[in-house]
Amino acid sequence: MAEEHFEHDVGTEELAHLEIVGTLVRQLTKNATTSEIENSSYGAYFMNHGRGVFPADSTGVPFNAGSIAVSGDPIADLTEDLAAEQKARAVYDNILRMSDDPDVNDVIKFLRAREIVHFQRFGEALDQLQNTPALQGFCPGLASETKN
Ligand SMILES: [Fe+2]
Repeated sequence: MAEEHFEHDVGTEELAHLEIVGTLVRQLTKNATTSEIENSSYGAYFMNHGRGVFPADSTGVPFNAGSIAVSGDPIADLTEDLAAEQKARAVYDNILRMSDDPDVNDVIKFLRAREIVHFQRFGEALDQLQNTPALQGFCPGLASETKN
């Protein structure tokens, strides 16, 4: 059951990342003039959400439970988690390529570092799951039994 606690801990931290990013966006936009907003890529967002913080990606697609992949197969789910962590790291890398704001970059570097830690922990959990005979009963992907 330690794996479940580990996944819940990472999930809780990921939700905190949403809060951190939301705070960052709020700090960056709270003093923007209407003209600055109108002449930026923030304009379309502002039309729908004003200065409020709405969890959406850079194309406006709102965050929802569809972003959370759960198959019930621990091997499939951990592999999905590994990919998700690398995708998050890649987004942070892209932000760092575009941002020249040291205060923003410090936050993004912190979040990027946490995604790397998550990737490492998920990798360790997957390795443990696949190489610990006592745990293989929890892995449908490793089960030798089939219905027929
Ligand atoms: Fe993560």
